[in-house]
Order: sequence, then C-alpha cells, then structure tokens
Amino acid sequence: MTDVLRVDPTRPDRDAIARAAECLRAGGLVAFPTETVYGLGAHALDREAVLRLFAAKGRPAHDPVIVHVDTIDRIDPLVAGVPDAALTIAARFWPGPLTLVMRRSSKVPDEVTAGLDTVAIRVPAHPVAAALLMAAAIPVAAPSANLFSRPSPTQAAHVLEDLHGRIDLILDGGPTMLGIESTVVDLSREPPTILRPGATTIEMLREVVPAIVMRSSDNTEGGAAPSPGLLAKHYSPRAPLTLYEGDPTTALERLVSDAADALEHGQSVGIIAAEEDWYAVEGLGNPKLQLVEVRFLGSEHDLPAIASRLYTAMRDLDAAGVTKIFVRSFSTGEGLSVAIDDRLRRAAAGRIVRV
Ligand code: TXA
Ligand code: MG
Repeated sequence: MTDVLRVDPTRPDRDAIARAAECLRAGGLVAFPTETVYGLGAHALDREAVLRLFAAKGRPAHDPVIVHVDTIDRIDPLVAGVPDAALTIAARFWPGPLTLVMRRSSKVPDEVTAGLDTVAIRVPAHPVAAALLMAAAIPVAAPSANLFSRPSPTQAAHVLEDLHGRIDLILDGGPTMLGIESTVVDLSREPPTILRPGATTIEMLREVVPAIVMRSSDNTEGGAAPSPGLLAKHYSPRAPLTLYEGDPTTALERLVSDAADALEHGQSVGIIAAEEDWYAVEGLGNPKLQLVEVRFLGSEHDLPAIASRLYTAMRDLDAAGVTKIFVRSFSTGEGLSVAIDDRLRRAAAGRIVRV
C-alpha cells in the first residue's frame, strides 16, 4: 500500500523526512515534490531499487533517469570528471530546475543511464526535496512520478492517480511551483547542448555559457542525439490533443470552429486557452458552450502561470471525460514559452494545425 505523508512545503516535518529517507535507503520508492514536478525516487546505486522504479512507472528500460543529489559536492563519485562548464552553470543555477548530463563513472548502475556512457544529475531547490536528499545522504534516481507517457504530476493527487499501490510513500508538499520539468543540458559534447528545454531558459544559460545551443529537433545525423526519453510520445492526456499555431487570432478562430464541429459530431470537447481567449471561446455560443470543458490557464503574458497549470489542465480534462482536446499555442519563440511549446507539441504527437 502507498502511504501519504503531508509535509509543510517550506518547513518540512523532520519525522516525515526521516521516514522517507529511511525508506529510500532501504530500497523503497518514495514520491516527493520538487520545484518542477513530483519525482519518484529510488536509491540510485541500488540496482534492484532502480528496477522496481522502472516497473512501477511502466517505463521502458531504454529511457535513462535523472540522479538527484543535495549538493554539487556529492557528484564526484558519479561522474568521470567535472567539466568547467558544469561548475560555472552549477554556481549560477543549482539548486534549481536544471539537469546536467556528464560522462559517468562505473559506480552508476547501467539501469540508471540505460547503458549510456553519461549520467544526468540535478540538485533540486524545493525545500522538501532538499531536506529528503540531505537526510537520505545518497544519490536518488527520480523520474517524474507518473505512469509512462502520462502528463507529469504537479500535485500529490496526480501521483496517487497513477501510482497508488505501486510505490511505498508519497510526501505531499502541495502543488509544485513551476509545473514543467527541468532543462536538460548535455555537457558531454561540444558545444553544450540543450536536450530538453525547461524552466531554465536558453537566454538565462547563454549569460554564463554563450556557446550553448538548442538541440534541433530534426537533426538525427552528425549532431547531438536527442535525449533518449524524448523519442517517445510523452506528456499526453488520454484524449487526443490538437495544437493550433500561427497568427493567434486566426488560430483561435480555427480552434473554435473545429471545436464546434467536433461538438456537432457528438464529441465531448475540452479547450485549453489563455484568459484573453475568453471572448473568442464564447463564440461557440450557448447552449453549446456549457458542453465544452474550458480551462483558462492565465494571461498569455503570464507564462509561469501557463506552465504551472498546463499538466493539471490535461489531467482535469481527462477526468472530465472529454474525447477531444483543443489547445492554442502559447509560443513566442523565446523564454519559458519554448519549454511550454515543446511539451504541447509532444502531447499533440503530430496533430498540429498551423494557420
Ligand atoms: O524536473 C525534472 O527534471 C523532473 C524532476 C522529478 O526532477 N524529472 C524528470 O525526469 O522530468 P524524467 O525521467 O521524466 O525525464 C528525464 C529526462 C528524459 O528526457 C531523459 O531521456 C533525460 O532526462 N536523460 C536522463 N539521463 C540522460 C542521459 N544520460 N543523457 C541524455 N538524456 C538523459
Ligand atoms: Mg517524465
């Protein structure tokens, strides 16, 4: 059975942290909040524990997991050497929503790295994650605490929804702050390459590593290989999701007209939009509007709000039983919108309407 322990997100209860740390040290599976999404932790140097972790998530063995530590001082035994860029980046962005891929040492089990010669490492900033890692005093392998291919969990209830009965413990520290996963930067190659955009933006990273580049999504030859886990369909609600891109006004018009069509055809429709879209979405007209499940994530100018509510909206719409989801793009081509767009495109799995 899965126990749920409530913890204060800013001053986590010592007994709860001690119990969770003991569970991890003994090879158990513990879900805990980070500032990005909830992670599902296992002792990273305990092969059996890592295998149980993959089994609980239904995660394929070829998708490597991130190792979490409480301080950069703990990474030496895990890597084959710490590149200068790692020190520069860590000094600025750790603890925080950033993961660094480096050459690994032989101490890290193959199960963690999916047989790659690199390991991904992150020092999270959330007080509960930090306290847990410090108390456990071990490196903790932790993918997002969702079933494989489901949206990442941003609340303990999402973890329960996916993993109840499959893991030992959940530390419930309330909703996570950022809502989308960390930026993954590969430092095992030149130039440093962003494999997965996240809450630490390329503009922020460029300030300390000017040469950093974004992995180009279609580049399969020569250049950076994509992050292995990014090959799969990911971050998806159950209902097929269609993403509308291009001129915002035209895109929204098209979205609304497609949603109305879907309603005519007996579909149950969900829409994910910005507050500014309220007027256009109302164009669906009564009484139809009442049949549409609309989730307004926040102002289109408030990207942190959009990011923090995106996965919850996907899960909510699934729970509401919709059969089609329509989402307008929030892309501006820069900042946090790059990560939001990346997740939406993956969730759409090719169903993209460009106007
Ligand atoms: O914010 C986050 O990163 C959350 C929290 C829990 O820390 N974790 C997370 O883990 O999103 P996961 O397993 O869902 O995603 C890990 C990503 C995958 O895209 C995986 O392919 C990539 O990191 N990754 C892990 N090890 C790698 C490696 N050695 N080389 C390249 N990519 C790697
Ligand atoms: Mg994940």
